[in-house]
Amino acid sequence: MDLTVEGKIYHNGSFEQACVSIKQGKIVSIKKTLKSDNHLNVGTNLILPAGIDSHVHFRDPGFPQKEDFSTGSTAAAFGGISCIFDMPNTQPQTISTRTLMEKTQLASQKSYVDFGIFAGVNDENIGRLSELSSYCAGFKIFLGNSTHSLHISPQNLKVALGEADRTKKITLVHAEDEHCLKKHEDREQSLVDHLRCRSTECEEAAIRSILQNGHDFSSPLHICHLSSYDGLELLRRRPKNISVGVTPHHLFFDVQTLNKNQTFYKVNPPIRSSFDREALWKGVNTHQIDILESDHAPHTTEEKTVDFDSAPSGVPGVETLYPLMLVSIKKGQLALDTLLSMFCETPAQILHLPKGKLEIGRDADFIVVDMKNIQKISAEHLHSKCGWTPFEGFPAIFPSMVFIRGEKVIDDHQILVKQGFGKSVGV
Ligand code: DOR
Ligand code: ZN
Repeated sequence: MDLTVEGKIYHNGSFEQACVSIKQGKIVSIKKTLKSDNHLNVGTNLILPAGIDSHVHFRDPGFPQKEDFSTGSTAAAFGGISCIFDMPNTQPQTISTRTLMEKTQLASQKSYVDFGIFAGVNDENIGRLSELSSYCAGFKIFLGNSTHSLHISPQNLKVALGEADRTKKITLVHAEDEHCLKKHEDREQSLVDHLRCRSTECEEAAIRSILQNGHDFSSPLHICHLSSYDGLELLRRRPKNISVGVTPHHLFFDVQTLNKNQTFYKVNPPIRSSFDREALWKGVNTHQIDILESDHAPHTTEEKTVDFDSAPSGVPGVETLYPLMLVSIKKGQLALDTLLSMFCETPAQILHLPKGKLEIGRDADFIVVDMKNIQKISAEHLHSKCGWTPFEGFPAIFPSMVFIRGEKVIDDHQILVKQGFGKSVGV
């Protein structure tokens, strides 16, 4: 149904009390006053673009105890996200046309938010990337081992990057170098051990291999979840088509302050020092880092409640990213412009989506928020199947309403659309 929504709209870089008019899922007009039979006035609540999370692991198919498209996308919707991009380290891994089609089918049946599917690149499928590109939003390359990750040999990297580049789709890179990780491999009993075994040297080595092998390619390449000062320094003078992402867990945690329940914070790349953490914040605030991504990687409490060495790496975060960052705005740690660029506009730009901004012609994807309504995060009220959060007790501002393509998806803690509302994007 067509609709106008009136509130404090972020438009052209500032807020104005105005109306957005929506027809067939698109923004058709933004004006001080607009008439419609279907008019919603949200008063002085803010109307902001919905988030785009370019990096989640929804575990479907293969690990239904951790998450699936239904629970993962519910969490995304409650967190103010209109579109997610799922990574290929599921079971089976998403590395062929068949597995891409099967995952797309699953997501189409179950997802509450729009979704894109990434294809994994390994030693076997590098010759078929152009064929795969018709079925995926882009490619994911793991330069080092991680949870159920795919393997690519260093001698195949240049060919893989070249092949992916020719498809014109984006390539995401997990930047930890396998040779370096192997060199430091040891039994781990704590987060400090994990950090030593996956040192910043490994992130640097991986970034170097990308800069050396892929610097003259023309399609976008994205370095996921940057975690170190050294990595950021290396990327300071990067080519224009290389973007860099950061996660809330690398911005909010450091090994100096985490001493309880350490397996729950085991993640790759690891939580590093307060020095690295501060450098990442600086990278955000000086626009050296382009994108916020959750790297939502749920594992169950049982799976995490084991000795440190055996615990799987990964933390959930899709529902808490935007709400945590809205509090950072309030605290003055971050400018709203920067947040909207990093979580809405730039992801839309590099993933070629008609989303990410309140602008005529784009999808009517937006959230309604009351910036005074600060709540404490509690896993009890979150929607991931894993049932826990590393951000327990953190202050957060959750959206009260979420609209995707003009449809009200969330209102007053209820999900209002059917499973399968989410549409495939990026193919
Ligand atoms: O900690 C991580 N967990 N890093 C990854 O790269 C993968 C992820 C997962 O899928 O659990
Ligand atoms: Zn990931």
